[in-house]
Amino acid sequence: GKVRAPTHIISTISDDRGEEPCYAGVPMSSIVEQGLGVGDVISLLWFKRSLPRYCTKFIEICIMLCADHGPCVSGAHNTIVTARAGKDLVSSLVSGLLTIGPRFGGAIDDAARYFKDAYDRGLTPYEFVESMKKKGIRVPGIGHRIKRGDNRDKRVELLQLFARTNFPSVKYMEYAVQVETYTLSKANNLVLNVDGAIGSLFLDLLAGSGMFTKQEIDEIVGIGYLNGLFVLARSIGLIGHTFDQKRLKQPLYRHPWEDVLYTK
Ligand code: ACO
Ligand code: LMR
Repeated sequence: GKVRAPTHIISTISDDRGEEPCYAGVPMSSIVEQGLGVGDVISLLWFKRSLPRYCTKFIEICIMLCADHGPCVSGAHNTIVTARAGKDLVSSLVSGLLTIGPRFGGAIDDAARYFKDAYDRGLTPYEFVESMKKKGIRVPGIGHRIKRGDNRDKRVELLQLFARTNFPSVKYMEYAVQVETYTLSKANNLVLNVDGAIGSLFLDLLAGSGMFTKQEIDEIVGIGYLNGLFVLARSIGLIGHTFDQKRLKQPLYRHPWEDVLYTK
């Protein structure tokens, strides 16, 4: 019989060997002819399946809402400083992307992990938040530098509205809202933030769509796919900030002495 030489790479998401590239088996022409969008392409390349329209629409809304949040946030600041140092597009982009992590934009996976674990174990919001406090861990998905109980994040409200209208179930999101009610009773800045909203709502998408087995959901949450949404979305804004600085011919940035506390 035929002997297959062992390969050095295994790949399961795309194939460019035929007449046209396929994403998870779907030819590019079919993607274009069906009028599919970026949410569908993400479904094929990340989740290896076509998802219902309300799911792909939700993914697209996440991307649009997280594309930018002004020049002052960690990522945009780094990108602006890098572009003003004369660096190229890719350097300016990755400089901003490198700030995405547990405090900024990269708390979505941990929010999903902790909310899922707490909800599935039947912990009350009080038990969950206080157990996190005992462990010295900040609740991922809770807290914001400028958003407050009386100045909610519009992005969170928009995501919640879409999900309440279109998802079959929003049980994880409702749990996150109950957690927020408890944390807000402790401090006014401890709102459910956009990472927490996406993390909890993606759990509802995965569990409620009927498209994923329990094992697959555990794998997605375990590996941590969801920070990818913020990385992808914010790249749009960071690229925009790079072009903006170049267009404005901004000089090298130097932080003012007056804004530094020099001390021993
Ligand atoms: N869980 C529990 N307590 C918290 C949390 C939280 N998530 N966030 C803040 N606190 C507490 C802090 O412990 C602090 O109390 P302490 O001084 O007695 O320790 C108090 O609230 C004030 O905290 P600050 O450090 O002043 O809050 P800051 O404004 O610097 O932090 C941040 C904002 C980084 C978002 C913070 O709330 C946090 O770490 N949240 C969890 C991570 C997260 O979800 N990040 C994503 C934010 S959204 C985005 O980036 C797009
Ligand atoms: C963002 O989306 O970048 C923000 O929520 C973070 C911030 O500091 O405002």
